[in-house]
Formats: sequence, structure tokens, C-alpha cells
Amino acid sequence: MFSLLLSITPAEPNRTAKPACHACSQPAGALRPAQVCSRPAGSPPHLIDDSRRNRYFTSMKVYTLGEEVLREKAVPVAEITDEIRTLISDMFVQMKLSDGIGLAAPQIGKSLRLFVVQADDDVERAFINPQIIETSTELCSYEEGCLSVPKYYEEVVRPERITVQALNERGRRFTLEADGLLARVIQHEYDHLDGILFIDRIAPDKKDKIVHKFREKAEKEQKKAEKTATKDS
Ligand code: NI
Repeated sequence: MFSLLLSITPAEPNRTAKPACHACSQPAGALRPAQVCSRPAGSPPHLIDDSRRNRYFTSMKVYTLGEEVLREKAVPVAEITDEIRTLISDMFVQMKLSDGIGLAAPQIGKSLRLFVVQADDDVERAFINPQIIETSTELCSYEEGCLSVPKYYEEVVRPERITVQALNERGRRFTLEADGLLARVIQHEYDHLDGILFIDRIAPDKKDKIVHKFREKAEKEQKKAEKTATKDS
């Protein structure tokens, strides 16, 4: 079986910096690599091939907190068909249009075990039926955000390094050892496949505040839609 082993080597670590994590040990004042699922202001935009972008007169809907599909346990991809490959290609485009660095299928309403990532090494990677087979005992804290919980960012503690196995879009199994931002994004997207959002990994009071604000917003939007419907009838 074909097996690809990649190791993402971080820049020479600053021994005096703490915490000792590639993603979060940038020198003070340096631009942090990116917040998970959203790129920092001032960073160069993703380059999107025009032939791919042109198919997008309207973007895919990105599902947000409160919608059921985000809480379901996604099912494995049974077969990697052309339809799945098109979905992956579309997800890369949507991820870039949304200024994200990762996107999981449930976020666009498809309850499938599949996500795409383009993190700090800028390589496009698709993970089909992934499994995290090893995690480091060292943990690190990093500020995460999510396209499904827009505009909220919180520090989340996760293992610093992971080993993940998955199939790529050609159906080949690969093994990837990752650390830093790449490990962070993979864990965040992997959680989406189990119906877990980053807010489930923060202090309950902070989570409650975010959920409450989303509920309020959803209620306002529903009232507005009802008013419009009454006017139109
Ligand atoms: Ni997310």
C-alpha cells in the first residue's frame, strides 16, 4: 500500500519562549500565523484559480451554530467518486472565498467524514475518512475561530502534535505527522466530523455567552423573516 509520511518541521524554536508550541510561540508583536478557520488581517489573500472561482456565482451556504447538521456524527465516505472529488474541489474554493484555512463537510451541510485544509505550509490537503492515531502528551493553547461560529475567537487547549491517517482524493491512504498550526487545524476540522465545535472545548460560561448571542440573532432574523412574509402576503 502506498503510504506518504510527511513531517512538518517548525522553525527553530525559541527556547526562552513559552508556551513551547510552534503555533503560539511567535515572538511578541509578530503576526500570528492565522486564527483557525480565518486568516489574520493584512495577510495575503488565497490565490484562487479563476476557472474555479467563476463557477461560483453564489457561494455555498456555510452552516452556523444552531443548525442540526453541525451536531451530527458524520458518516464515512463509502466510495471516492467523481462527485466526491468535485465536492472536495468546491470545498477548497469555498474555504478560500471565506478566508478560511480549513473546512469540514458538515459545515456545508454534508454529513460526511471529510475535510480540507490549507494551513501554514500552504499545501492543499483533503482528508477522507480520517483517523487521528496518535496525539502528543504536550498540550498547547491557541486562539481559534470557526466559519460556523463567525466573529468569535477563544483560546483552546489541544495536543501540540498529532499523527493522522486518511485517504486522499485519489483514494490513497496516507499518514501525516503534524505540529503547529497544521496540527491545530486538523484537530479542529476532525472535531466537526463528530459534531464538536471549538466552543465545546472552552469554559462553560464563555460558551454559554456565545450560544446565547447566536440564539438571540437567530430569533431576530426569524422575526424579521416573519414580518417580511406578512407584508408580502
Ligand atoms: Ni470550524
